[in-house]
Amino acid sequence: MSRNLGVSITWLGHATVLYRAASGKSVLVDPWVEGNPACPPASKNLEAVDVILITHGHSDHIGDVASIAKRHHPDIACNHEISLYFADKGVEKLHGMNKGGSMTLQGVKATMVHAIHSSTIKEGDRLIPAGEPCGFVIEFENGTRVYHAGDTGIFGDMKLIGELYHPTIAVLPIGDLYTMGPMEASAAAKMLGVKYVVPIHHSTFPALTGTPAELKKRLSVWPEIEVVELKPGETAD
Ligand code: NI
Ligand code: MN
Repeated sequence: MSRNLGVSITWLGHATVLYRAASGKSVLVDPWVEGNPACPPASKNLEAVDVILITHGHSDHIGDVASIAKRHHPDIACNHEISLYFADKGVEKLHGMNKGGSMTLQGVKATMVHAIHSSTIKEGDRLIPAGEPCGFVIEFENGTRVYHAGDTGIFGDMKLIGELYHPTIAVLPIGDLYTMGPMEASAAAKMLGVKYVVPIHHSTFPALTGTPAELKKRLSVWPEIEVVELKPGETAD
């Protein structure tokens, strides 16, 4: 269904989202494709990836960074610590940054914003600190702005993100347990002042209990906000 979102959004399952800008550039956030049990086989062969954004170091968000980087040579923006980690793995075109800053890669402007979560990389029996978790405000060349929250709990400065950047779309985790659930995500959407909410980080494992149906129920008191419910592999635009 076409809603005139200003950008095409494909949910690859769990927390992995592929944005295709009107300019043709594709931005992949938190690549976890091969080992992602929610990603449909037909969606695993990505045609092009121009930019990768990484919100934090957990394996369900960085699982396929190295393999996709090798195949597609995208520009990769992430926190400083994760950029150093992947540089050691031979990954190229890494752009370390930190919260509050913006970077424009291939015409796509990414502003790194706060998130409440943790960030570590498990490698064998080692647990490597991976900087602070973050979200991104992504501004495409046609002016469309998306707040991609990453894994996070709700926090009051989401109101500030709404006031400063005026995103029309929020891509929010709703699975509960590791992130916000539907109740918090509905309040977040209201604070952000967005028109559309795309729920992610749900339904992958039984432990993630938050559902789009509950989010819709919670948001029914604010009919100006629409829940864009996708199944893994589906696209909204
Ligand atoms: Ni996480
Ligand atoms: Mn996660």
